[in-house]
Amino acid sequence: MAALISPSILSADFANLERDLAVIRDADYAHVDVMDNHFVPNLTLGLPVVRRIVEVSPVPIDAHLMIEDVDRWAPLYAEAGVASVTFHAEASQAPVRLARELRSQGVRASVALRPATPVEPFLDLLDELDMILVMTVEPGFGGQAFIEGTLAKIRRARAAIDASGASTWIQVDGGVSRGTIGAIAAAGANCFVAGSAVYGAPDPAAEIAALRGLADA
Ligand code: DX5
Ligand code: ZN
Repeated sequence: MAALISPSILSADFANLERDLAVIRDADYAHVDVMDNHFVPNLTLGLPVVRRIVEVSPVPIDAHLMIEDVDRWAPLYAEAGVASVTFHAEASQAPVRLARELRSQGVRASVALRPATPVEPFLDLLDELDMILVMTVEPGFGGQAFIEGTLAKIRRARAAIDASGASTWIQVDGGVSRGTIGAIAAAGANCFVAGSAVYGAPDPAAEIAALRGLADA
């Protein structure tokens, strides 16, 4: 399938979110990073801000929850009107129950894996998941260097998805740029989060097009 681009507003100007969402109107999603200073050592934004982002964004919202107590919180983000809710495997007591609850709320259900978290336990559960987010940096901050070792995990996930016939997407997040996106796409990812690459570019719209072109090449 064609590559999907989801720019991360973590690298946008938080005082001008409406303006910075408008410049990515050609993207497939807007990626919103929710951090609680417990699951990761950083704090960003929460439900009240996400509710307003949903109202003003020209593209659907892809919420990435880097928070504890996610079994309790994730359904509230679904209720806030986002299109896709990604929760961390390491933070959920019952990932399948949570994924089912999210789907019953009408959103795409997705599980995220830190670089050192194995994908294998989820490869038997593909029917329960709309997407697997393979973190390609340690979650918490934008602008970090891509971890090459994560490519093998993407390849294993792609092989299992293709073998099973599941329609689960593979998203990558961290260090995605013109320099890395080709190798990541070749490994089998189809959905690409990019923060500093898009918002750090002189022309974010052109950067989205360039990344899409390189991923589809
Ligand atoms: C980091 C966040 C990412 C972040 C990626 O934990 O999940 O979405 O914005 O930033 P870049 O693309 O700059 O690596
Ligand atoms: Zn993210």
